Amino acid sequence: MNAPTRINSALNVRDQFPAIDNWHYLDSAATAQKPQAVIDAITEAYARDYATVHRGVYQRSSEMTGRYEDARAAASGLIGGRANELVFTRGATEAINLVARSLPKEGRNRVLLSNLEHHSNIVPWQLAGYEIDAVPLTDDGQVDLDAAEAMITEEHRVVAFAHVSNVLGSVLDAKRAADIAHSKGALLLLDGCQAVPRLPVDVGAIGADFYAFSAHKLYGPTGIGCLWGRELDRLPPWQGGGSMIDRVTFEQTTYLDAPMRFEAGTPHIVGAIGLHAAVDWVEKLSLDAIHAHECALIAECRAALSNIDGITLYGPEDSAGIVSFNVDGVHAHDTATILDDVGVAVRAGHHCAQPLMDWLGVPATARASFAAHSDSSDIEALVRGIEQVKRIFG
Ligand SMILES: Cc1ncc(COP(=O)(O)O)c(C=O)c1O
Repeated sequence: MNAPTRINSALNVRDQFPAIDNWHYLDSAATAQKPQAVIDAITEAYARDYATVHRGVYQRSSEMTGRYEDARAAASGLIGGRANELVFTRGATEAINLVARSLPKEGRNRVLLSNLEHHSNIVPWQLAGYEIDAVPLTDDGQVDLDAAEAMITEEHRVVAFAHVSNVLGSVLDAKRAADIAHSKGALLLLDGCQAVPRLPVDVGAIGADFYAFSAHKLYGPTGIGCLWGRELDRLPPWQGGGSMIDRVTFEQTTYLDAPMRFEAGTPHIVGAIGLHAAVDWVEKLSLDAIHAHECALIAECRAALSNIDGITLYGPEDSAGIVSFNVDGVHAHDTATILDDVGVAVRAGHHCAQPLMDWLGVPATARASFAAHSDSSDIEALVRGIEQVKRIFG
């Protein structure tokens, strides 16, 4: 038995999260807790600075417009993009739906996905009438890019993969995925929901065509997310309304350039400000530091769980901040319920990835996911809770 190395939180930010206190929150992959800086930015935006954007001629509205556009530049800059390449959406789900619905198919009706995709990166393609090909996984739960290379054809319009799996934490070789997509003239969309809070991302270096993520997994508010796109102006608008038009008559309407042409209606103004605060918060810590911290926690957690008899661990050893497991003979929901009794919050279920559960041959897993505020005390509590699960289930 290897004694797991206990790491002390190198980031030391736990006391910035007022909603955690003594709780062992291991469900950041579902949604991240919020640091005080984000809560303050949202509160002040409503309590002091609030006004509409892009319409008012009065000073406060023009200030809010400036802050909304600054947030766009910051969110795009976080992943190496330019301000006018980023559309605010309701979340990653809406961002992927936007591409699936709006991208002209140009005679190509297939999309190449993988077996570990979140339903948000499966169902939009089905609704948009694409035929799906699913790339298999390697034994340790990575997208098998050798297989992807063999499967891609000129019928594929898009290759769409999770940059980091929300169940297994597997990190995609995104640059290679881009090369594979482009080798047949397809576009690469990355679902960056789990990557953006955990890794430095550079869409230019990767060669991605679209990149989707949600603010609430990045320590920001719910209800706002981002679609970055290299050439958004090639896509027609997908929702109509105010703010996205140039000129409207009953006969004909012309549209603004991207990104505004994709933001019909009054946007989530304060959401953008909260997202900007979250971007500033992670950038101050640095995503390199967050990534190193979460990798150390994953190594510690996997070592601790492998020391317990009767635990099945899923995913690769070097997963990014996320580990799925099952206690043999115990349903994941029972495991999570008992863990909750001892103050440990993990997610249990199919994690919106039913094809992956089929691939793993299980109905559900329990999932522990880490964040910047996590530390060894969370892993120790998880281990104590699993020992309790084993005592209860004999
Ligand atoms: C990998 C992945 N993709 C997409 C989503 C959907 O994100 P949202 O519900 O914020 O739109 C999630 C959320 O769990 C996710 O983990």
